Amino acid sequence: MPAVPQDGYDLVVVANRLPVDVSLDEKGKPTWTRSPGGLVTALAPVMAQADGAWVGWGGAPDLELEPFEVDGTQLVPVTLSDADIELYYEGFSNDTLWPLYHDVIAPPAFHRQWWDAYRRVNQRFAEAAAAQAAQGATVWVHDYQLQLVPQLLRALRPDLRIGYFHHIPFPPLEIFAQLPWRKAVVEGLLGADLIGFQRGGDAANFVRVVRRLTDLTTRGQVITLNDAHGRVTRHVRAAAFPISIDSRAFDELARTDEVQLRAKEIRRELGDPKTLLLGVDRLDYTKGIRHRIKAYGELLEDGRLSPSDTTLVQVASPSRENVGAYAQLRDEVELLVGRINGDYGQVGHAPVQYLHQSFPMEEMAALYLAADVMLVTALRDGMNLVAKEYVAARSDDRGALVLSEFTGAADELTGAILVNPHDIDGMKDAITYAAHLDPREARKRMRRLRRRVLGHDVNAWSQEFLAVLTAVPQRSTHV
Ligand code: G6P
Repeated sequence: MPAVPQDGYDLVVVANRLPVDVSLDEKGKPTWTRSPGGLVTALAPVMAQADGAWVGWGGAPDLELEPFEVDGTQLVPVTLSDADIELYYEGFSNDTLWPLYHDVIAPPAFHRQWWDAYRRVNQRFAEAAAAQAAQGATVWVHDYQLQLVPQLLRALRPDLRIGYFHHIPFPPLEIFAQLPWRKAVVEGLLGADLIGFQRGGDAANFVRVVRRLTDLTTRGQVITLNDAHGRVTRHVRAAAFPISIDSRAFDELARTDEVQLRAKEIRRELGDPKTLLLGVDRLDYTKGIRHRIKAYGELLEDGRLSPSDTTLVQVASPSRENVGAYAQLRDEVELLVGRINGDYGQVGHAPVQYLHQSFPMEEMAALYLAADVMLVTALRDGMNLVAKEYVAARSDDRGALVLSEFTGAADELTGAILVNPHDIDGMKDAITYAAHLDPREARKRMRRLRRRVLGHDVNAWSQEFLAVLTAVPQRSTHV
């Protein structure tokens, strides 16, 4: 059993990534930049308020760094070698679990070497967290890359309260059961006291998996664990905690003069189109980017949207480029964009503005403000924070959100125009409807959307999760 650190932290976050990307300057000193991504955005305000530590990977291979402080948070880098990145991150996390948990949209690959690396790296994260947490501290583990950490950490430090939040969908038993290491993953998660999911449906899928793959008893959201003699040792709760964004901060950012002016400038630079459609995604096959562009292309072909006064801006930020399915998707999307622009473009006007880049928050806010119609057409998505950002940016109560039913956000954002992205005709109708939405109807919908997004922000999310976790009775060290 490792020693409990003398000056440990009362709140320790464990996530695959640190909230910054680290690189070394010529003198070997770490320099960092805030990294993009939903999880980072979600937790930044939580960590700013707490005296906490964040255990994670710095984003580059073989970084051997001592812990360092940023904005009052202790950052604790976990080293990943080239092989760890290939086998644990690109392999098991993003080529096995990611497609498996997203409705097998792409086929998951099962390799024993990847699994071995996943176990090894999860152990390393658990040890790093154990070395930071004070006696009786709360440790909050995040996401599918680290599903074994709760159990591994509990074995090292039975005094801790352990929470786990799953940011992506949890699949139905029939899909999860394909995983050769399904039992070990379930046992890994059950090391937590509280397991949070985005939707009630995800939590229900997990509880059903527990019932079918273990001998444990479940009652509603509560799973009961026993020792070898059948005596109850503890309870695990599995429940929904839909994540959100820092809605106020985003709303305020979008109200600044700079962003307002930039939004107008964007429209001007695009030739003042009558209708500006917008898609903003990591370039990921779960996001339904091809389906969306196909529907748009057909609307131009049918003449229901005019190529001369319509523009689709598609921001597709580079992601996981070493994973084959992502490289293939990039080719497919770029072929499709090229075809549409070739067929319907004019000198000085391309109906699709495709940007394979990442942009700062200010530019994103300006794009949201400039867009008449926001297209979020994911085939499967745990939550989708882009949808919430769009709403938070629209203090003018204008704009329309076309939202896939298969996002976690669809459970909450009932003012959106909901679509099934597999139904191209249905999506074409929804886009046309959104593009011609009566301003009164648009205002009504946007007000409803904003009530939800501004009324339930990321702070409420983390407070709710931590309140339930903190209510778990504290145990002695010698259980
Ligand atoms: C999703 C996952 C996060 C992940 C992010 C970016 O939002 O839920 O855990 O960090 O995508 O992906 P990446 O592979 O670049 O970390």
